[in-house]
Amino acid sequence: MPKFRTLDDLNVKGRRVLVRADLNVPMKNGKVSDTSRIDRTAPTIRELSGKGAKVIVLSHFERPKGKVVPSMSLKPIVPALSKAVGKPVAFADDCVGDRAKRAVSKMKNGDVLLLENTRFHPGEEDNDEKFAKQLASLGDLYVNDAFSAAHRAHASTEALAHLLPAAAGRSMQAELEHLHRALGDPMRPLMAVVGGAKVSTKIDLLNNLIAKVDVLVIGGAMANTFLAAEGRNVGKSLYEEDTLDTARNIITSATDAGAVLLLPKDVVVAKELKANAKHRITDVFGVKDDERILDVGPASVQEFTNRLLTTATLVWNGPLGAFETPPFDKGTIAAAKAVAERTKEGRLVSVAGGGDTVAALNKAGVTNDFTYVSTAGGAFLEWLEGKELPGVAALEHGD
Ligand code: 3PG
Repeated sequence: MPKFRTLDDLNVKGRRVLVRADLNVPMKNGKVSDTSRIDRTAPTIRELSGKGAKVIVLSHFERPKGKVVPSMSLKPIVPALSKAVGKPVAFADDCVGDRAKRAVSKMKNGDVLLLENTRFHPGEEDNDEKFAKQLASLGDLYVNDAFSAAHRAHASTEALAHLLPAAAGRSMQAELEHLHRALGDPMRPLMAVVGGAKVSTKIDLLNNLIAKVDVLVIGGAMANTFLAAEGRNVGKSLYEEDTLDTARNIITSATDAGAVLLLPKDVVVAKELKANAKHRITDVFGVKDDERILDVGPASVQEFTNRLLTTATLVWNGPLGAFETPPFDKGTIAAAKAVAERTKEGRLVSVAGGGDTVAALNKAGVTNDFTYVSTAGGAFLEWLEGKELPGVAALEHGD
């Protein structure tokens, strides 16, 4: 387990604490439409405020590319943040300079202040030392609670951690502890489920996982590429001709590593991807030229469920079928429910992450029944790839 400080190690009373949160949340009509990330970071802010710190929250929002883009202001997030934290949250129109300094100087112990989008300054994405020093001058301590932005070496996620005494916030701490439990030092047998559209975007991830897991389940359209690599007819299914060799290499690596690779044994096929389209179930040898594979079939789900009985830890990224379009969500939902059941029985540690995955688990209504569901997208994928995340590494090296 990487070593880093937590809120337990900081004496925060009367101190200005810069908290890097990830408030890059979905919005609809000027309001936050999914508060998950805010809800995850609120306990850190509440705890610091409750201990008498002056809590100064930093975050990026979308990708303004170093310029002030009014539609990408963090100001509309204030009501949702304030609600989650349970107290008023002040706002400063800039994250550095006079406006930020004035707002900080007005703070009393326990107050919470949100600073404007860090990405309005080019120094943020450049991980610029000078910009980081401007940020650092506003605080005495630094807390990073933004695991979902930790794959970015930006000033507020990386450089700043070297300029002030640094610690992980509660949400960052929970992410790191659960991810370590899932892949760092897991109880075995360990199974990974990888779905989604493309092998090409997940080559590093598959190669990293195949060396670590006991069982690798492949689903989603990427399974079509594996089926095609094994010589099956996949009809009009999405698959990547250019990555057939990559798929073959991964199959070989699985054999070399002694890992079991589970590809679908049956599939749901239709002539078009449309809600409630006419469809049928076939084994993987029976796909016709004019058909598309759109989901895993019931026998595949059953095989997965049987495997779960002998699995201690499960890591999941990516849906198993075209889950946004019923009935092609059935395989993903049934598999997710089976994981949730085993987890609730206390027989499985289950960790999931990645944008589509969370949406699929929400659809299955089982998000709260997994051991842990990460709110990270890109950072979760890079962690699955075995890459060092700069925001996490900086915390480990913090003084
Ligand atoms: C995310 O939404 O995954 C994080 O907030 C990171 O955003 P980015 O991809 O714009 O760096």
